[in-house]
Amino acid sequence: MALLRALPAAASAVVFTAAASASAPAPMDHHGRGVAARADASCPNTLQVAYGPPVAAKGWQYRLAATGFRKPRGIAFDSAGGLLVVDSGVGVFRVALEQDKGQTCVVTGAPRKIINSTELNHGLALSADGSTLYASSSSRVFAWAYDAKAGAVGDANRTVVANMSSTDKTTRTLLASRRQPGVLVVSRGTVDDGDAAAGNKASGHAQIRAFDVGRLGARDAAYDFGDGAVLGWGLRNSVGVAEDPATGGIWSVENSVDVLTRAGVDIHSDNPAEELNYHGRLNDSATAKDQGGNYGFPLCYALWNTTGFPDLGALKTGDQVPGPAGEVKKLSDASCNTDYVPPRLAFQAHTAPLDIKFNADGSKAFITFHGSWDRKVPIGYRIASVDFNKDTGEPSAAHDSTTAAVDVLSTPDLTKCPDGCFRPVGLAWDSQGRLWASSDSTGEIFVLYQNGTTDGGGSGGARPLVADRAATWAVLLAAVAAGLLLA
Ligand SMILES: *[C@@H]1O[C@H](CO)[C@@H](O)[C@H](O)[C@H]1NC(C)=O
Ligand SMILES: *[C@@H]1O[C@H](CO)[C@@H](O)[C@H](O)[C@H]1NC(C)=O
Ligand SMILES: *[C@@H]1O[C@H](CO)[C@@H](O)[C@H](O)[C@H]1NC(C)=O
Ligand SMILES: *[C@@H]1O[C@H](CO)[C@@H](O)[C@H](O)[C@H]1NC(C)=O
Ligand SMILES: *[C@@H]1O[C@H](CO)[C@@H](O)[C@H](O)[C@H]1NC(C)=O
Ligand SMILES: *[C@@H]1O[C@H](CO)[C@@H](O)[C@H](O)[C@H]1NC(C)=O
Repeated sequence: MALLRALPAAASAVVFTAAASASAPAPMDHHGRGVAARADASCPNTLQVAYGPPVAAKGWQYRLAATGFRKPRGIAFDSAGGLLVVDSGVGVFRVALEQDKGQTCVVTGAPRKIINSTELNHGLALSADGSTLYASSSSRVFAWAYDAKAGAVGDANRTVVANMSSTDKTTRTLLASRRQPGVLVVSRGTVDDGDAAAGNKASGHAQIRAFDVGRLGARDAAYDFGDGAVLGWGLRNSVGVAEDPATGGIWSVENSVDVLTRAGVDIHSDNPAEELNYHGRLNDSATAKDQGGNYGFPLCYALWNTTGFPDLGALKTGDQVPGPAGEVKKLSDASCNTDYVPPRLAFQAHTAPLDIKFNADGSKAFITFHGSWDRKVPIGYRIASVDFNKDTGEPSAAHDSTTAAVDVLSTPDLTKCPDGCFRPVGLAWDSQGRLWASSDSTGEIFVLYQNGTTDGGGSGGARPLVADRAATWAVLLAAVAAGLLLA
């Protein structure tokens, strides 16, 4: 099945492998604006960014697909090919493709507002059958009947999850399971970094919970956030949540603290790590070892940079250590890794991962890194991918890897950030295997397409080009041969 679906892309990659790299940085004019970025004579879409354009990795191409939003966050495709966008503080829009000439050559129509609401600010999901649209405010999850053909919601909304208000982290990311239709996963961050209540599971702060919203009828009362099954707690702000289509595993990406000391030393510039965490499968039993644990916040944090780290001992990247509140409780480094759940992978401090979406066969997860605001040299401002091992369902890279996230679309001059850079947030795949991304600070939507092979390995950076080419040809020839046999 996976092989058959891979064939059209593999066939077109044959042409590309022999061609030049797709991703030379676009030229700049004297205002630093991209000149004719991604525009080409054969495509009627002439949209361009008004800042130094991001750069696609080898094998990828991208194009600006829609503009003019206030603060686009969560995005999702409906079954009729319409792109739904939560514009924070404005409502939900539907964007139709007016022209689709393949790869990234698309022309979108004017966004049509389908829900007028200043409350909605981030989360968006369609039920597995496509007939219910979920969107979140900081305190509630709302549901609407949804008709993809008409591109419209029913008149009335229902509240399906309530009581999540907080003053600080206000996004409530939504994941509608495909494995367990009717189950909605909701991520709620901390109230603030000194949130002592987060140490109490019943507070509902800094947690990911799952709700069987499919069983709610039109007249049923909403769930209280505290009614949900706990997939994890002690999660400071896990804004991205995904379900691996191969295994059903639930993964999240966590935004860790801005300020951190160890033994009184300020280590915040390169620590703590942002985290990739695992939460088991939705059908796991209540006692499953990977589900419902405490991931450490506000007591324990993961290491990113070990250079100059006070009292390093044998600690490695990705291991947890007590933060100031953990030090007050006299937690040891060891207990932060045994009594609390360390991340499966660590990412560079302050890069702010906001979404994670697996590809169709679960071999890669794509992650948006919104970018730092509290670091002298900005970092992040990229979309990256992480390789997964389909047999184990785990990331291919080692727990202490610092190179697991490989660039897909990145910012060439980080010193221009945040003002002169894209800031990716929401991700969604369309039915043609294209990856779409919102950028909230610029009000834009991008479309990306992998039309060739990349150099990047999941765990070890670039491989030699010659070996890569040879391996590519071997894989392509095998795919073509298999395709002939199967046809
Ligand atoms: C892939 O995209 C790049 C950039 O748009 C283009 O130059 C190249 O021809 C494309 N390759 C194929 C195989 O379409
Ligand atoms: C949309 O909501 C705003 C704010 O609640 C309101 O002022 C406006 O009239 C609404 N627009 C429509 C078309 O309903
Ligand atoms: C849900 O419906 C109520 C009642 O009509 C309305 O006041 C509220 O604004 C709606 N909420 C959203 C997010 O549309
Ligand atoms: C929200 O919390 C209030 C106060 O604890 C409670 O009365 C109400 O029933 C809760 N709402 C839901 C939908 O559970
Ligand atoms: C959950 O589903 C997977 C297949 O999707 C199955 O292998 C596993 O046994 C199930 N677990 C339980 C506890 O039913
Ligand atoms: C850690 O910091 C050192 C010194 O600033 C730097 O050379 C190194 O690249 C950093 N490593 C990582 C993984 O960020």
